[in-house]
Amino acid sequence: MSDVISVLLSRNSTKAITGPGPNEAQLQQILATAMCAPDHGRLRPWRFKRIQGENIAHLADLAVKAMADEGRPLAENKEKNMREWLGRAPLVLAVGSYVDHSNDRIPQHERLLATGAAVMNILNAAHALGFGAFWSTGIGTYTDAVPEALGFDPLEYEFLGFVVIGSLQEPLAQKERPAVADHVTDWEPDLA
Ligand SMILES: Cc1cc2nc3c(=O)[nH]c(=O)nc-3n(C[C@H](O)[C@H](O)[C@H](O)COP(=O)(O)O)c2cc1C
Repeated sequence: MSDVISVLLSRNSTKAITGPGPNEAQLQQILATAMCAPDHGRLRPWRFKRIQGENIAHLADLAVKAMADEGRPLAENKEKNMREWLGRAPLVLAVGSYVDHSNDRIPQHERLLATGAAVMNILNAAHALGFGAFWSTGIGTYTDAVPEALGFDPLEYEFLGFVVIGSLQEPLAQKERPAVADHVTDWEPDLA
């Protein structure tokens, strides 16, 4: 099996991460893979904000406050878990997808799919370099205040959450994956 295929088949999301995160050269490689996502119309809709060091604790504070202010406070244990996870995280990438109202040729959902594909490349690249990663739409994604504070004005961007990346705390456990045959069938035209 090719090395690339075995990387793709062995990727799992994990929150069991800690420092150090990718160094600058590794991070640039990871981010470069996002630029290779398929993209109808060359719109390049994916946008990322890098959040590192003590700014990650500020993000946690921001998310907790936004959820409370907007009437959906996090349960105490969920807040504790989120703060512990982010407290161990060396790197968070906030993910936005640029809407670009000037373009009505490419449907909006295709731009979201392109941004999702960019994130998938990031998850795979992080795994290929031996890091653990997890895409989360927790951390106040569905508030007004969090995307706004990150510079993702909701009039201009779809905010798609966070990718948290760090060194693995433990070897990545393998997961059972669905059988291909349960998800793939052959189509044949009805020529009658
Ligand atoms: C857009 C998106 C948002 C997600 N948000 C969350 C989340 O907030 N909390 C969570 O537990 N899992 C979330 N997940 C799922 C995890 O990132 C992960 O995919 C899941 O635990 C399955 O693990 P796997 O990637 O190894 O299959 C999200 C996945 C996607 C694609």
